[in-house]
Order: sequence, then structure tokens, then C-alpha cells
Amino acid sequence: MARILLIVGGGIAAFKAAEMIRLARRMGHEVTPVLTAGGAHFVTPMTLAALAESPVYTSLWDLKDETEMGHIQLSRAADLVLVCPATADLLAKMAAGIADDLATTLLLATDKPVFAAPAMNVRMWLHEATKANVATLRARGVTVIEPVEGAMACGEYGPGRLPEPAEILSFVLPAGAASGEGDRSAQASGGKASAREAPPSVAVATATPPALRAGEDLSGTHILVTAGPTHEPIDPVRVIANRSSGRQGFDIAAAAAALGARVTLVAGPVALPTPAGVARIDVETADEMLAAVEAALPADAAILVAAVADWKVEASPTKLKKDAGPPELRFAANPDILATLGRHPERPALLVGFAAETDNLLANAAAKRVRKGADWILANDVSGDVMGGASNHLHLVTEAGAEDLGAGSKEALARTLVARLARTLKDR
Ligand code: CTP
Repeated sequence: MARILLIVGGGIAAFKAAEMIRLARRMGHEVTPVLTAGGAHFVTPMTLAALAESPVYTSLWDLKDETEMGHIQLSRAADLVLVCPATADLLAKMAAGIADDLATTLLLATDKPVFAAPAMNVRMWLHEATKANVATLRARGVTVIEPVEGAMACGEYGPGRLPEPAEILSFVLPAGAASGEGDRSAQASGGKASAREAPPSVAVATATPPALRAGEDLSGTHILVTAGPTHEPIDPVRVIANRSSGRQGFDIAAAAAALGARVTLVAGPVALPTPAGVARIDVETADEMLAAVEAALPADAAILVAAVADWKVEASPTKLKKDAGPPELRFAANPDILATLGRHPERPALLVGFAAETDNLLANAAAKRVRKGADWILANDVSGDVMGGASNHLHLVTEAGAEDLGAGSKEALARTLVARLARTLKDR
């Protein structure tokens, strides 16, 4: 059980804070809402109090009886502080250390991990002033959860939307907290949460508790990610492809950007939007992917998630005609991008590959790690509907052995992996 001090800022996304309180309560957490004057234009104290089953604090002067619940005590009675939605104004005040109302005073007084989930117009989010404020806050250990891309209430399109409440909670809650403090049974049973412990909409977050903590920060690093399939042309209209959707790689790129990394995402042909804050390079073939990866070096870490075709075809320059009968395709080996990086003069400090296997998962993955010169291999069993699906089950294979990271949504696993990577880079 976690005690969340929830600061609700003044934006249209404030209504999602109400939904988040409901979810958090159903998961057994305590929520103490603090509503800013702006927030009170969008949701009422009564709504938040009813959902939180707690008093709602709105003004510094509510707390004038310092012996009962002063602002210092209120800011420290929680396990964590979540600002949601965090407006551009709130982020600026936090960065500047302004304390001119209850919310900002609590933020200055707290000694607990602080999370901010910004939501605002795309231009405000992309403004240099907001970017500088976010960088300042991240450098101080505040975890700023990247807004998602989409249509905005103001009619514009772009990054700035608040992620869904379940998504934010999965970011914020410490490992294990989503299913109750220290609930080892949920992890020991392969991460499966019982229906009693959590509603279905948050079961994925429960199954794979993200290990994010304040201070897990990738600012100042360059992270290179490959994702998706490659297409190897047979002729001008036909290709050899595979079932990779690119989702796991895109989620990893998004998670790294959310922790402040500069992210280069080299993507094969996929139908996915570019995650906020990620520089994307689209390629088609394995040869093009290798060239784009080498051009993006140096990088502090490379996470190669792409399902690269092992073979390319000696393609016909003209369309193969049916009348000529079934073609005899001649194959040639593609470069192995992971193995190339493994022996590259600019090898990233942390080189991470994936191993898609249908049998002998851990043994094959361990052999692949050594053969390709990678530090980590994420082994995933692709005998089910993993390729193209929304969930995954990963095992982390390192020099020290194998560790089950559990099953969960690709997003949750991406955050677990990127948090681990951030800690490892920091230790090195
Ligand atoms: N990979 C790569 N370049 C290739 C093939 C694979 O960079 N030409 C990378 C993948 O991105 C992944 C890892 O190597 O990180 C393992 O991919 P996988 O397809 O499982 O391995 P293969 O070497 O193709 O081995 P096999 O198909 O025999 O299992």
C-alpha cells in the first residue's frame, strides 16, 4: 500500500486525476488530494474527496492549525508526491522554487520522491522554457513522465496529452506496491495478479511492477534503439517481411526518452507513431538499418530490438511475371547488426540484444549473448502471439546468469528494462 499525495493542477486533464484516484483506491492505495486554484476550475474538491475518501486540501490557510496538519507534515506523510496534471506554470514554479500556494509550498517542503505528469498544449510543451524547466527538474531527481502524442482538447495535434491513469500509476508505484506491499506471491507465480487484487484495467501494471524510482535518470545520455522488421526486396513490388510490429522497440525508445535520454530510433517499416522526444530514422532493409545505426554512433547504450532478416534476396530489377513460373530466389547473408556493434571500435558501453526463440529459450539466448558480443540479451519466447501483440514475457540474460523479468505489457516491460539500464549506466 502506498500513500500518494496527489497535486491536481489546472488543466483540462484534471478530470483524469479523478479517474486515477478511483483506480489507486481500488488497488488499495491511499490518496490525499491537493487541488490548486486552477485545478478547481476543472474538478471540484467534492469529487476528489468522494473518490479519495479523504479531505481535499486547497489552500495554505486550510492548514493554519499547524499542530493538526501543517504543510511540512502533509508533504512528508506520503510515500510519494505526484503532480497530475502538471501544467507549464506548475513546472516553472517547481523549477524556480516558487512557493506561493499550498501545492508549490508542499513541493518545496517534501523529502519524498516527486513525480510530475505534464499535460498541456503542444507548443507550450515544446517551448524552450518548458524544456529547460523539465531538464532542471529531472536533474534534481524529479521523475517527469513524458506526455503522449495525440489530438488535444485545443484542437492541435502533438505531444502534450496526459497518459492514461493506469499508465501513470504503473510509472509511479514502487515495485510490488501495485499488488500490496511485498506481495511476493504475485511475483513468484510468474507475475500473474489475481482478479481480487486489482481490476483488469491495471492488471498488466500489477503483473510487472516497474522499478522506476526518482533519480533514475538518463539525461545526458544517447540511447540507440532498433525496432520493427526489415523488408528485403524480391523485385520492385514484393518483399520478404516478418511479423514484428515494432511495439516493444518503440516502447523502449519512449521509456528512455521519458527518463531524459536523447534517443535515436532506427525503425524498419512499421505503422507506429514516433514516441515523444525521439529522433526516428526510417529504413527498409538490414543493410540500410546497419548504415543508420553506424551513422548514429557514438551511443552510451544500444538496444537492438529489430527483427532483422537474416537473408536478403538477389532482387530482380523488374517485376517478376507470373508467366515465367515460380521464381528461384537466391539468398545472401545480411549483416548481423548486433554482432557488428559487438566488435565495433565505437561499441556502446552497454550493448543489449533480444533473442526471439521458440525453444531452449535461456540456453539459446546465453549462447547468442556470447556469440554476438552483447552485454545483455532479453530472451522472449515467440511461440505464442508475442509478435504484434501487446504483451511480452522477458528474461534478462547477463554474464551473471538469467533473471525472469516477468510477463506484462510491452510498455511496462520497457520501463522496467530502461530503469535497469539507467541504474547500470550510472554505476559504470
Ligand atoms: N540481429 C541483428 N542483425 C541481424 C539479426 C539479428 O542485429 N541480422 C539482432 C536482433 O536485433 C536481436 C538479436 O540480434 O537483438 C537476436 O536476433 P535473433 O533473430 O533472435 O537472432 P539470430 O542471429 O537471427 O539467430 P537465429 O535466427 O538463429 O535464432
